[in-house]
Amino acid sequence: MQTLTLTLPDDFHVHFRDGPMLAETVPATARAFGRAIAMPNLSPPVRTPQEALEYMDRLRKALPPDVEFEPLMSLYLTEATTSARIQEAQRLGILAAKLYPAGATTNSEAGVGDLEALYPVFEAMQAEGLLLLVHGEATDPEVDIFDREAFFIERHLRPIIAAFPELKIVLEHISTEEAVEFVNDGPPTLAATITPQHLLLNRNDMLAGGIRPHHYCLPVLKRRRHQEALRRAAISGSSKFFLGSDSAPHERQRKEASCGCAGVYSAPFALELYAEAFDQLDALDRLEAFAGHFGADFYGLARNKSKVTLVREPWTVPLKIDLPNGGQLVPLMAGHTLHWKLAAR
Ligand code: DOR
Ligand code: ZN
Repeated sequence: MQTLTLTLPDDFHVHFRDGPMLAETVPATARAFGRAIAMPNLSPPVRTPQEALEYMDRLRKALPPDVEFEPLMSLYLTEATTSARIQEAQRLGILAAKLYPAGATTNSEAGVGDLEALYPVFEAMQAEGLLLLVHGEATDPEVDIFDREAFFIERHLRPIIAAFPELKIVLEHISTEEAVEFVNDGPPTLAATITPQHLLLNRNDMLAGGIRPHHYCLPVLKRRRHQEALRRAAISGSSKFFLGSDSAPHERQRKEASCGCAGVYSAPFALELYAEAFDQLDALDRLEAFAGHFGADFYGLARNKSKVTLVREPWTVPLKIDLPNGGQLVPLMAGHTLHWKLAAR
């Protein structure tokens, strides 16, 4: 197979950030995706429907002319979120709200400490049909960082699912075999996104032979057994697993630091990176549904009508991307050869 034509995919998990960074991140995602869920963990976070609409406007203004791309908005849940705010969000076309356990990751300080306090909000989301997007990691400092996802699932997610049987939940950026099994065994209201880094890498790639800060993200990369479970899930043909890159840019000096930020920047080549993973597994025939069907179906959106074409052609991921402010981003797999390239949309 030398070319691969796919339904225009969607990315159900992207950190575009804000301000001058949008000139890089918005065109990067719009190049290969028809829609993307914009994560709300700005500083300050996107907490109200009004703030979400204003943010959507800034994202739209950063689009190149004549590109078919629609940003999809999500609200950031805090302990102050009300049911009325959820109802208003629904009226204004906001599809989802994101649960960050307080302290779990970048800009999660305003997130939720006491998840049970949010049950009335989950009730409203269930009634209004908003999706609950979950950063599924426990924040208890006693819990080992490699166990935080599995712990969160048992301690927090299982009870939420039991209490809200109609609430659609996406467990974002899953990183463990336990998460794969939990999602597989869960009800049809439960799905998961998988990132390219969790498909392509495991913790040896981050820690063996030197520490590689550009592979550091949250949930942190796990051992190979988990990577393999994620790879099996992605190519399984199960509609519960779909594309969400979690592209999360931090400038180079904030990653190459004594306390480096979590996040991997994959937006400019996200589709090519997924194609690489699927090709490694001899499963390119499964890429279209993972990238362009299952997520839209789960969100209740029409699948995109347009197509994209990938061509088999070796190329090298650039070592850096220059930002308008003079800073730099180091993309996922910088300097590595990939074997598929986006041709035309
Ligand atoms: O690695 C990550 N980076 N994980 C997250 O959950 C947040 C993200 C970010 O915003 O930088
Ligand atoms: Zn994220």
